[in-house]
Amino acid sequence: SHLLLLNGPNLNLLGTREPGLYGRCTLAEIEQALCAQAQELGHRLTCFQSNHEGELVDRVQQARSEDVAFILINPGAYTHTSVALRDALLAVAIPFIEIHVSNVYARESFRRHSYLSDIASGIIIGCGPLGYRLALLAAHERLATASH
Ligand code: DQA
Repeated sequence: SHLLLLNGPNLNLLGTREPGLYGRCTLAEIEQALCAQAQELGHRLTCFQSNHEGELVDRVQQARSEDVAFILINPGAYTHTSVALRDALLAVAIPFIEIHVSNVYARESFRRHSYLSDIASGIIIGCGPLGYRLALLAAHERLATASH
C-alpha cells in the first residue's frame, strides 16, 4: 500500500534540537530507515515535512487522490493547536497513527491535549525515534487485518 509520513514544525531539526528529549537521529536518517522498512513490508512510503500548517493540510488533502492507505504523523506543536489539521484528517478519512518522540505527558501541561488523539487509529508516545518504526509496524498490521 501507499503510506504517507508527515512531520510538522521543527521536526526538520531532529538530531540537533534538544537531543536529551528528542535523541540524536536526524529526520533524514529516520525517513531513510522507514522507507527501507516499508519496502521490506511490501509498501511504498512518501515522506513530507513542513513548518507550515497550511502545507500540512494541503498534503493531507492531496493524500486522498494518491490512494494513501495509512498516514503516520508527528504533527509537532500543531498537535496542541490545530483544528485545521484535525478537520483535514477527518475530511480525507484516511486512518492515521499519531507519533510523539518525547513523552508529552512528562512535560508542560499544554502538551497533554491533542486535537488528533481521539480520532487517531493509534498513538505512540515517548519511545524516541523508534516510535516511527513502531507506528509503521502498527499500520502494516492494521492494513493486513483489514484486507483479510
Ligand atoms: C513532539 C511533541 C510536541 O509537543 C512538540 O511541540 C514537538 C515534538 C514530539 O515528537 O515529541 O514539536 O510532537
